[in-house]
Amino acid sequence: MSGASLLQVWEGRPPHAWRTAWGLPALEIRASIGSTNDRAGELAAAGVPAFSVVIAEEQTAGRGRSGRRWASPPGMGLWMSIVLRPEAVTPRPLLSVALGAVVASALETLVTPAVPGLKWPNDVEIAGRKVGGILCETGGAAGTGAVIAGIGINVRQRADDFDPELRENATSVLLATGLYVDRAELAGRILHLVHEWLVPAPRKLEGELARHVARFDLLRGRQVVTSDGASGLAAGIAPDGALLIADERGARRRVLAGSVTLTRDPRRRERVP
Ligand code: BTN
Repeated sequence: MSGASLLQVWEGRPPHAWRTAWGLPALEIRASIGSTNDRAGELAAAGVPAFSVVIAEEQTAGRGRSGRRWASPPGMGLWMSIVLRPEAVTPRPLLSVALGAVVASALETLVTPAVPGLKWPNDVEIAGRKVGGILCETGGAAGTGAVIAGIGINVRQRADDFDPELRENATSVLLATGLYVDRAELAGRILHLVHEWLVPAPRKLEGELARHVARFDLLRGRQVVTSDGASGLAAGIAPDGALLIADERGARRRVLAGSVTLTRDPRRRERVP
């Protein structure tokens, strides 16, 4: 990887100033890169400490969940990956779900009165549209034990900046709220909250963390159908990060992976039995 695309200044300050301000062991900020997750994986395999971070102005091969492309145009968003080194195995969806709540919570402080939320398992939404997503990856270049937590947030796109097929469901902070949010401020708040909630990595969603996640859970009390055909009332998130779906008799089913569609008026929340 050439050092030629390393940025000397990002959001008005040199990377070492952000590294110090955010208390990171290492921070790399690139003008352009394939995927920050790949670069963070390489660094993890080379032995960088936990909480090392990669940010890029542009990703040319940004990845989303299920192998989807994640459009990452230059200067428009926060494209960031964090090397985590959990001491114990963290159940699959738990980290994504907790990170999604962390991102929603960091955004909330910057966009009030808009209300960001988490759409299980990894989408961050404002006003019913996706503003960001989380991609946690293990294995590969990340090396034994490391988890690469990739965070993508659309910050400054206008409607025309999105591919036509994304326009209906995607948004940016600017589009959804009219606010120009400072990306460094947003990154700093996310990293602070990651430290607060996810270091050490939780083994279960319980106690205060469970309540924090529940506060941002956009699905609870809504009628949903999952990509594997389960339908019913979203009834919260289980300790391992699984989505709970209740049928008419109140029996709960756990869903560990997939995506979810709301089947009724998204503004209507029902009481969870
Ligand atoms: C999703 O919603 O499908 C997850 C999107 C994750 C995108 C981020 S941007 C930074 C990091 N690098 C990537 O290639 N993907 C993640």
